[in-house]
Amino acid sequence: MSRTRVLFLSSEMAPFAKVGGLADVIGTLPGALRGIGIDARVILPLYAPIKRRFIDRMTLLDERTVRLGWRSQYSGLYVMNHDGVPIYFVDNEYYFGHDRVYVEYGFDIERYAFYQRAVLDALGDPMNFLPDVLHCNDWQAAMVPFLLESQFRPKGYHLDLRTVFTIHNLMYQGLHAKDLGTDLFDIPARYLTDEGVLSGPATNPLKAAVRYSDAITTVSPSYAAEIMTPEFGEGMDDLLRSRASVVSGVLNGIDTVSYDPSTDPYLAVKYGVSDVLPGKTANRKALRKEMGLKEDASTVAGMVTRLYSQKGVDLVLEVLDLLVAEGVQLAVLGSGDPGYEAALRQAVERHPGRVAFVNAFDEGLAHRIYAGADLFLMPSRFEPCGLSQMISMRYGTLPVVRETGGLRDTVTSYNEFTGEGTGFYFRNPFACELLDVVHLAVQLRKKNPEAFSRLVLQAMSQDFSFRRSAERYAELYETLLGPRRTPKRPDR
Ligand code: GLC
Repeated sequence: MSRTRVLFLSSEMAPFAKVGGLADVIGTLPGALRGIGIDARVILPLYAPIKRRFIDRMTLLDERTVRLGWRSQYSGLYVMNHDGVPIYFVDNEYYFGHDRVYVEYGFDIERYAFYQRAVLDALGDPMNFLPDVLHCNDWQAAMVPFLLESQFRPKGYHLDLRTVFTIHNLMYQGLHAKDLGTDLFDIPARYLTDEGVLSGPATNPLKAAVRYSDAITTVSPSYAAEIMTPEFGEGMDDLLRSRASVVSGVLNGIDTVSYDPSTDPYLAVKYGVSDVLPGKTANRKALRKEMGLKEDASTVAGMVTRLYSQKGVDLVLEVLDLLVAEGVQLAVLGSGDPGYEAALRQAVERHPGRVAFVNAFDEGLAHRIYAGADLFLMPSRFEPCGLSQMISMRYGTLPVVRETGGLRDTVTSYNEFTGEGTGFYFRNPFACELLDVVHLAVQLRKKNPEAFSRLVLQAMSQDFSFRRSAERYAELYETLLGPRRTPKRPDR
C-alpha cells in the first residue's frame, strides 16, 4: 500500500511562528508521523519574519491569482525542507507581510480566508502533492471542510480528500459579522442559518468545521468528553453531541529533545533520573538567585503561563498571601491580562524575596523555572491539553493542577495509601481547594521527603513523546480512507 499523505493546515508552527501551544504541536507532530511512515507535510502563511530568515532556503513552486469574494489576489507558493518535513508557504505581502502572526481580528478573518482558498487551489499540480487527508487546526483553518462540501465536491473535485479538524481550544471560534464571512467564503444562502454555519448574526468557522469535517479531534480524551457538556461546550455542546461518533481525543506530547533536563543548555546544572536530587537543589538555588528569592528551606512553586482567566491566575492571586504565609515561594513568568500583571507586581512588593514575577516571554527562564521549582501550579478552569504540566514532570517538578481536560489525562494524583502519583489534583475551581492541595504537597515534602522524591521519579519516568500521539492519528487516518473513487496519481 502507498504511504498515507497528510497535509497540515495551521496558523502557527514552531519555530517559524509561535503564539501558543498550537505552534508546539504542529512543530513536532508531523515529524513524529513521518517517523512511523506517514507522508506528513505542513502548509503555513509566509509571515514576514519567516520570509526574511528562510527565503534563501525556499524553492518557488507556483504563482497564481486566487479569488476571494470579489477580490483577486496574488498567491505565491514556496517549499522548503525543515528537519525532514516538507513545509509549504503561501506568499502574499498584503496579508502576511507583517511581523506579528495575528494582526487585528477584523483583518485576520480575511487573511485566513485567503490562506484557506490558496491552500485548496495549491493542492495537486502546484504543490506536486495530492494529500489523502487535510488535517486542519483551529478556526484559522476551520472553513476548509465546508468549502470542500459546498463548493468543490458538488463540482466533482476532491471527492477522495478526507478532512480531520483538531480543536486546540473551543473558546476561539472565529466569529465574524455575517456579511463579511459570507463575502469572504462565498457562502451559499442555504447555509446561512443556525443549522448551517451561523451562530446568530455571525458566521462561525468552528461550527462549520464541527459540522462538515470527516473526523473531529481535540487534544485530550477528557476534554473531548467535556466539550459535549454545557459547562465546557461554549455553545457547541449540542452540535458536538450530535457528531459524537466522529469526535475523539488524542493527547498531545511534548518535544522531548528540546525539553530534556540532561541536555538542556539553559540550565545551571544538567541532571537526569539518577542525580535528580542534587540536580534540583543546584537549579533551585540558581533560580532563586536569578529571580531574587531568599535562599532557605521553603518550597518553590513555579508558574509559566499566559496570564488569562482560563489559566486560573485569579485563583492563585486570591490565596497568594496565604501561600506565602504557608512558607511557599512563588516564581511566576508570564504575560497577558494587564490586571493580573499589576496584581502580581503588587504581590512582589508585599512579599519581597518570597514572590518573584517576570513579565515577559523568556524561553531560557521558562526552562530554569521548570528545573528549579519543586511544584508547578496550573489551576486552569479548563485545559484542552496543556503542555507545561508535562514539561514540568519531565524536569521532576510536581504539577498541582485542577482535575480537568488534559491535566487529568496526563497527571496522576498523589495517593497517600499506595504512594502512586506524579502530581496533585484539586477538583473544583475554588481558591480554597487550590490552597488545601498546595498545603498537602508542602507538608509531604517537609515531613516525608522520601515519598515526595518517589513522586518526582515517577513524574520523570512518564512517556510524553509525540510517538504515542502520532500512532493514534495514524489509526484515525486509516479509518477515514475507504476504497478510492478515483485512481491515485503518482506524486513527483
Ligand atoms: C491550546 C490549549 C492547550 C493545548 C494547546 C495545544 O493552547 O489551550 O491546552 O495544550 O492548544 O494543543
